[in-house]
Amino acid sequence: MSVKSNNPYSTIITGTGSAAPDRVLTNRDLENMVETSDEWIVSRTGIRERRILDRAFSAVDLSEQAARAALEAAGLSPEDVDLIIVATVTPDHPTPSNACLLQARLQANRAAAMDISAGCTGFTYALTTAHQFVCGGSCRNALVVGTEVLTRVTDWEDRGTCVLFGDGSGAVVLQPAPEGRGLIDYTLRSDGRGAELLLIPAGGSAMPATAETVAQRLHTVKMNGNEIFKFAARVVEESLQELLQGNGFQPSDLKALFLHQANLRIIEHIRKRLKLKPENVPVNIDRYGNTSSASIPILLDEEVRAGRITEGDLVSMIAFGAGLTWGGVLMRW
Ligand code: UT7
Repeated sequence: MSVKSNNPYSTIITGTGSAAPDRVLTNRDLENMVETSDEWIVSRTGIRERRILDRAFSAVDLSEQAARAALEAAGLSPEDVDLIIVATVTPDHPTPSNACLLQARLQANRAAAMDISAGCTGFTYALTTAHQFVCGGSCRNALVVGTEVLTRVTDWEDRGTCVLFGDGSGAVVLQPAPEGRGLIDYTLRSDGRGAELLLIPAGGSAMPATAETVAQRLHTVKMNGNEIFKFAARVVEESLQELLQGNGFQPSDLKALFLHQANLRIIEHIRKRLKLKPENVPVNIDRYGNTSSASIPILLDEEVRAGRITEGDLVSMIAFGAGLTWGGVLMRW
């Protein structure tokens, strides 16, 4: 990648793709693993089932499937790609990045490649980072992927978290936008003071892997669900209002609001406060659970492929998660 002088006004998503493992884990299955019930999970989260990646595969396998679908939809081949950004907290290895592994799989040999770690907000961070590169003129074709295999870092004895997560990947191609379309604005925030609310304690330099960390299941997600819930309900609305009001729009102008799929109650809370219709706030948490950085691009791909998002639609995506991090984008499709 090198800096050229063809800075576009904005960027636009020209292709989407997604992938999910075949294996389904239902709430009924979970009833046989921990003390829980389908009724509790559905009423508290909206989740009915989630996908689980078979042990023979890893995050890069899901990423490759989603990325190839997005490239095909955009009419690009891997050698056209200048930049690959993968948002993930469940990479194949601590190093190298999953973006480099994906690059090798695709043979996208001209691309620069890197991962971004921003919890469930990862896709939003990755998309806006790619946007900067494309607007800066150093890149024309960016591939942005959100992939998680959260079931590999799930404590299957903790009913407070194991019912929530699933595996999946979503990808988009970002290119220079024609005038009047594309990304209008974005907001990115973080507050590291909330780091303890959602973290994987062990496996990094602070707590390297030992027999004891494994025995204590410290390589799995620990979450203060109540605090994250309150934080999410607040920052999602703040971020969206900032984007809408700052650009002279009303919630009712939105054709689609893509919210991070963490809890149906959070989604419904926001939808009702903004007086949006259900058809304008798509949901798939019932089928996938919380797939972290993959949740928004999977949902986006489903809506685009169903023909529910078309040229000229005003669209927003808002996410929140570990870090703490949150933020979103507003775009004219
Ligand atoms: O992806 C980004 C970050 N993650 C999130 O956005 C998650 C945000 N938080 C949430 O979605 C919710 O807080 C949860 C779904 C995690 C939990 O729902 P809640 O309504 O906040 O439940 P709670 O943690 O207050 O627990 C209520 C009760 C407790 O029992 P007691 O103490 O009242 O007797 C829990 O032990 O529900 C119990 N409980 C369960 N019961 C059956 C917790 N998990 C389960 C379970 N099945 N799976």
